[in-house]
Amino acid sequence: MDMGLKGKVVIVTGGADGIGLISAELLAKDGALVALADINQGKAQAASDDLNGQGCNTIAIGVDVHDQASVAAMVKTVIDTFSRVDILVNNAGIGYFKTMDEETLDDWFNVLDINLTGVHLCTREVFKYMKEQHSGKIISMASLGGQIGGMKVTPGYVASKAGVVGLTKSYARNGGKYGITANAVAPGPTETNMARGRYSAENTMVGRLAEPLDVAKVVYFLASSLSDYLTGITVDVNGGALMR
Ligand SMILES: NC(=O)c1ccc[n+]([C@@H]2O[C@H](COP(=O)([O-])OP(=O)(O)OC[C@H]3O[C@@H](n4cnc5c(N)ncnc54)[C@H](O)[C@@H]3O)[C@@H](O)[C@H]2O)c1
Repeated sequence: MDMGLKGKVVIVTGGADGIGLISAELLAKDGALVALADINQGKAQAASDDLNGQGCNTIAIGVDVHDQASVAAMVKTVIDTFSRVDILVNNAGIGYFKTMDEETLDDWFNVLDINLTGVHLCTREVFKYMKEQHSGKIISMASLGGQIGGMKVTPGYVASKAGVVGLTKSYARNGGKYGITANAVAPGPTETNMARGRYSAENTMVGRLAEPLDVAKVVYFLASSLSDYLTGITVDVNGGALMR
């Protein structure tokens, strides 16, 4: 079955590491043209070089997702390079592992700036091109934490990820008439630099925490033609830690 990914232009924010990198790899190995857009440009470049050495077509771009000018420049680079943008994976994010008492106001604003405003700035920018193309897919990273109040992360993180679920529905409503779909992914604890060593698998039904690949497979599904009739939904990827 044709997954519809060959030649599709994909931006993965936070694509230098973790879930973003493995998602980028799955998509690029299936023929997508992928921009690894990350605040860590050096790491993104190394990942891009590695993937291109395996026959992929990727580029690395430095971006700070909560800086409007930086986001506009990043998307312009993608358009200048590949002439269009078909799929945006809003994956860049940070998390603070602190209690409500420990969370500072700076922590609160920082996490909302990157995890929520960052998603919106990137989406607004690509919407311009997707509306002209009359097609596009927006995929945004939410979190189990946003659904259950967070086990170890700050209230700001929880708010940012709950916000992503709402934003996704707004994008689905606003994008529908332009052929743009929007969906979110809500992972449970996943073995990346962000969360490694902080959680145990006892809350899952499958007896293990998620690997980045478990989440990337769902990103792949939402990026592919398999998901063409889905919009406005959040897919839970948590090994049964939340059943509803
Ligand atoms: N790991 C988990 O347990 C888990 C669970 C639920 C949701 N998530 C979400 O998944 C996404 C990916 O997380 P991960 O676990 O792969 O983390 P990670 O730390 O491995 O990767 C995050 C990437 O985002 C980049 N980044 C951070 N701030 C940025 C900014 N301002 N602009 C551009 N890039 C920036 C980092 O450089 C890094 O490459 C995040 O949105 C995270 O909140 C992770």
